[in-house]
Amino acid sequence: MRAVDLIRKKREGQALVETEIEWLVRAVADGSLPDYQAAAWLMAVLWRGLEPDETAWLTLAMARSGECLDLADLEGPRVDKHSTGGVGDKTSLVVAPLVAACGGIVPMISGRGLGHTGGTLDKLEAIPGFRVRLTPDEVKATLRRAGCVIAGQTERMVPADRRLYALRDVTATIESVPLITASIMSKKVAEGIDALVLDVKAGRGAFMKTAADAGRLAASLVATGRAAGIRTEALVTRMDAPIGRTVGHAVEVLEAVDALRGRGPEDLSALCRRLAERMIVLAGLEADDAAAARRVDAALESGRAFERFLTMVEAQGGDPRLLERAGGLEVAQGVAAAEAPGDGVLATLDAELVGRAALALGAGRDLADDPVDPAVGVRVLVRPGEPVRAGQPVLELLHRDGRGLDAARALAGKAITVEETQAAPPALVLDHVTA
Ligand code: URA
Repeated sequence: MRAVDLIRKKREGQALVETEIEWLVRAVADGSLPDYQAAAWLMAVLWRGLEPDETAWLTLAMARSGECLDLADLEGPRVDKHSTGGVGDKTSLVVAPLVAACGGIVPMISGRGLGHTGGTLDKLEAIPGFRVRLTPDEVKATLRRAGCVIAGQTERMVPADRRLYALRDVTATIESVPLITASIMSKKVAEGIDALVLDVKAGRGAFMKTAADAGRLAASLVATGRAAGIRTEALVTRMDAPIGRTVGHAVEVLEAVDALRGRGPEDLSALCRRLAERMIVLAGLEADDAAAARRVDAALESGRAFERFLTMVEAQGGDPRLLERAGGLEVAQGVAAAEAPGDGVLATLDAELVGRAALALGAGRDLADDPVDPAVGVRVLVRPGEPVRAGQPVLELLHRDGRGLDAARALAGKAITVEETQAAPPALVLDHVTA
């Protein structure tokens, strides 16, 4: 087989066959396909698209390009949740231990921040000592103890995605539904799970700005998961304003702890509960949403969900006592307010701009290997739909010695708009895609 023929075939809009896609992915993973040919093929896919079969073959070939987790000897259904990325989205930190406390095994392989969105691994590293780079044996040992684990892709997992993702990032080929699908789903297939609930974000703070685009991505992810033998469904959820009342790393961990103790903000708790219910039903632990909701209530009220979180933190090297007392995690002491420009109702709190304000304060990276500052971030004092007076603080910018404060102030100011009257708040869950 010759790469140039496969590039030409895709350039002409023809579908590749399974053996051709497998050949390409093998050549990506073993390094024999040069970057320029891989990049040309990616650009042809971006323009021409992939058929559902091609997307499924690409996903499976990528998943098999490296080591997969073998969790067959663990008791219980293996189930995961994956979000396409949002601002203030700490749901993974709540949902993984919550579903573990309900009887699921949750082997969550997560990522770092991308663009203006925060990464689950960066948040967890705000807990001193917490390790996200685990060997497959450590992943399994954590699952045995806690029922859940949240870790990064190991060196040997899905190497084809690592290389293709890096190329996509620098060749303007990220925004392709089949390529995003294969990238996300190859990592989920490699986890060895039985069931998966996807949280596909739509809105100002999401990569998919409209519900229609998010719906198309959700349908592609669900079809591909099912083709790979994973019971998969997706919720399309609103990402116009940050989720909950914090954006950053330490502050989001502390808010997730509140949610696990039943004291979380309403939108965060509602989203976590909904995701957990569907995971429990898809995993076969309960027959319907009502029974799953009762199981979720019991896990939260008994404190078992929070205990699972503490056990996971300890198993991954963190000190769980830091999460049980106030002041256990460092939060930046510098506080500057972003204020409402007039009297009325807070109309928008643009999630992308708030996310970018947190990055400006030091919560994100300029280069892939830059460290993040776990202590900085943003506190949301007023949520969209709530009344405000001119000059009232809407956001608190938590800064370290003023670093990035001017840029963050400018972004935060633009994120806030006030109107005279209140529109009906849109639903949190916009769609439920099951096929
Ligand atoms: N997350 C991924 O893992 N891959 C993508 O392509 C986009 C988001």
